Amino acid sequence: MFKNYFIKNLLKIKNCKLKINTIIPNSYNLPPNYMWSHTPVLTNELMSVVALKSGDDAIDATVGGGGHSKIILEATAPFGKLLALDTDLKSLKIASINLKPYKGRVTFINDNFTNLSGIMKKEKNIKAKLILADLGPALWHLTESEYGGSFMADSSLDMRRGEEGKTAEQILRTFSAEKLAKLFLVYGEEKLAGEIAGFIYQDRKRVKQLTTGWLANIVSYVYKKHRVRQKSHPATKVFQALRIYVNRELDNLADFLPQAFAAIEFSGKVAIITFHALEDRLVKSYFKSLARDKAVKILTKHAFQASYLEQRKNPSSRSAKLRVAEKLSSTFVWPKVEVQEFGI
Ligand SMILES: C[S@@+](CC[C@H](N)C(=O)[O-])C[C@H]1O[C@@H](n2cnc3c(N)ncnc32)[C@H](O)[C@@H]1O
Repeated sequence: MFKNYFIKNLLKIKNCKLKINTIIPNSYNLPPNYMWSHTPVLTNELMSVVALKSGDDAIDATVGGGGHSKIILEATAPFGKLLALDTDLKSLKIASINLKPYKGRVTFINDNFTNLSGIMKKEKNIKAKLILADLGPALWHLTESEYGGSFMADSSLDMRRGEEGKTAEQILRTFSAEKLAKLFLVYGEEKLAGEIAGFIYQDRKRVKQLTTGWLANIVSYVYKKHRVRQKSHPATKVFQALRIYVNRELDNLADFLPQAFAAIEFSGKVAIITFHALEDRLVKSYFKSLARDKAVKILTKHAFQASYLEQRKNPSSRSAKLRVAEKLSSTFVWPKVEVQEFGI
């Protein structure tokens, strides 16, 4: 029954770039005993600053496993509605299972949050008091071979969350060594970027299919050569850089921010959780420029970060930063976000 409701709601939104695959196909089954938990980060900090009330509506622009959505739905019970977006079908499927107890209050949409304005034209009954975007990958994007984001198993290097754009393999195949080095340096802050790029450039001619294992081995080799030791896997930063580039994560965030402020109700809050310095800088400077124009009030003078305890329990919260701004104007024209061009 919930499944019918779920599909009906997906069908309701007809004209916002929905394609046939936006309905979770019946054949889209998760493996039995699938571990579908993604621990939401900074939940106490988020809920204390956004102060949702019973009956408030909200938009979770990155529903993932539905962890934050669940907490929002609890706070806005019994009637608050939630719009839950995600580009990834697997995330939506997992969220739909985890949010089953809230059926009737949640509308799931398989779309990019960069299409928020179009979505809101169709979803006129949502009067959002909160729009949340928790950026970055869900746990399964990092651990499962189908996304090509894991160095634990040797799999194809795709990394796309959705079906559009170039795969990581296509980028590694076609970029010059200089361009690859810049990519790893800018998006991954990888100090050995130049040398890693050089090895990739040389070795890719020899290899028929570039895989996660192949890439992880190259990075590990360069790290070993320089005797660099660290807690996380040596390939973490290179994988992160490719993921950000493949999924246009910075451009998407820039497109999304003005749309989020336009979509939210007066005195509603836009909350962004980032995991990367470039994204955080973009949010911080955009919020600041809006605050200068008195269009918003910044509710997080300094970004909130996970407590020591949360970091111990959930290591992936280590780099999370939360920034929240409250909308103070209904007439302001929300300017475009300037994205720094890195020439990649
Ligand atoms: C970190 S997870 C969210 C986890 C979620 N807050 C929770 O508590 O379970 C981020 C999710 O955002 C999705 N995502 C990333 N970029 C997106 C975009 N531009 N539009 C919509 N969803 C996006 C990813 O597919 C992923 O499922």
